[in-house]
Amino acid sequence: MAVTTAQLLKWKQQQRPITMLTAWDYAIAQLLDQAGLDVLLVGDSLAMTVLGYDTTLPLSLEDMLHHSAAVKRGVQRALVVCDLPFLSYQESEQQAIHNAGRVLKETGVQAVKLEGGHSAIAQTVATLTQIGIPVMGHIGLTPQSVHRLGFRQQGNTPETAEKIYHQALKLTEAGAFALILEHIPSDLAAKITESISIPTIGIGAGQHCDGQVLVTADLLGLTAKQPPFAKVYANLRQTITDAAENYIQDVQQQTFPQ
Ligand code: KIV
Repeated sequence: MAVTTAQLLKWKQQQRPITMLTAWDYAIAQLLDQAGLDVLLVGDSLAMTVLGYDTTLPLSLEDMLHHSAAVKRGVQRALVVCDLPFLSYQESEQQAIHNAGRVLKETGVQAVKLEGGHSAIAQTVATLTQIGIPVMGHIGLTPQSVHRLGFRQQGNTPETAEKIYHQALKLTEAGAFALILEHIPSDLAAKITESISIPTIGIGAGQHCDGQVLVTADLLGLTAKQPPFAKVYANLRQTITDAAENYIQDVQQQTFPQ
C-alpha cells in the first residue's frame, strides 16, 4: 500500500521507526522504493552530491521539478517529498503557494519540505497546509542558511536549544505533517520527539527520533567526504572506478568485445 502522511502519524503512535532516504533520479528511486523505504526525499542536497555545487543555494525550482518528476516515475509505494529550493518560498506566501503548487501539479509528488522555524515560515506552513499541500518542516542545521550557521551542530547552548524546541512546537501547530531534525544534540531531539504529535525524522540527531534519514550519496559512498553523523553502507566510488578501469583495460587489450 502506498505510504501517506496519515500513515506516518500512525507509525509514530505505534512507535514503528520511519525510514527515509534521499533520491535524485528514476533508477535510484526505483531501487530504494523496491528495497522498502517509507519516504523518499528529493533533497536539495542533490545540488552538492549530484550537480557539483559547493552549497544548496544555486539550485533552481526548475532543477527540482526535473529531478522530482524522474524520482516519482520510479516509485510505487514510498511517500515522495520535494525540497523547495532557496528563495522559492521565502519571498512571500504567494510565491510559496505558486511554487509548491507547481511541484505537486507538475511532478506528482505528494508533499514539499521547507527549511526554518521562525514565524514567517510557520505562517507559510499553515497557509500551504490549509490549501491542501502537505508540508514537512526542517529545523536545526538548515543548509540553505549555511552562510549564517555553517555546517555545524545547532542547539548546543541552552538558548539555541530552547529556540529550536519552540520552532518545533510552532511548526507542529502550523500543521506540518513531520519534522526533519538535523545535526542537533540527541537529548534535544528526544525532548522534541516526546513533546510533539507529529513524527520527527533525525539526521545527526541521535536515536530518539521517530525515524531516520540520510543522504543516499553518503550512504552509498558516492561522496568523497561524508558528514560525521553519516553511516557509509557501500563503497560505490571504488566499485565504479574498478568497473571503468576494467573496461578501459578490456578495450585497450581488445578482450572486449570478443
Ligand atoms: O536535502 C537534503 O538531502 C536534506 C536532508 C539532509 C534531510 O534536506
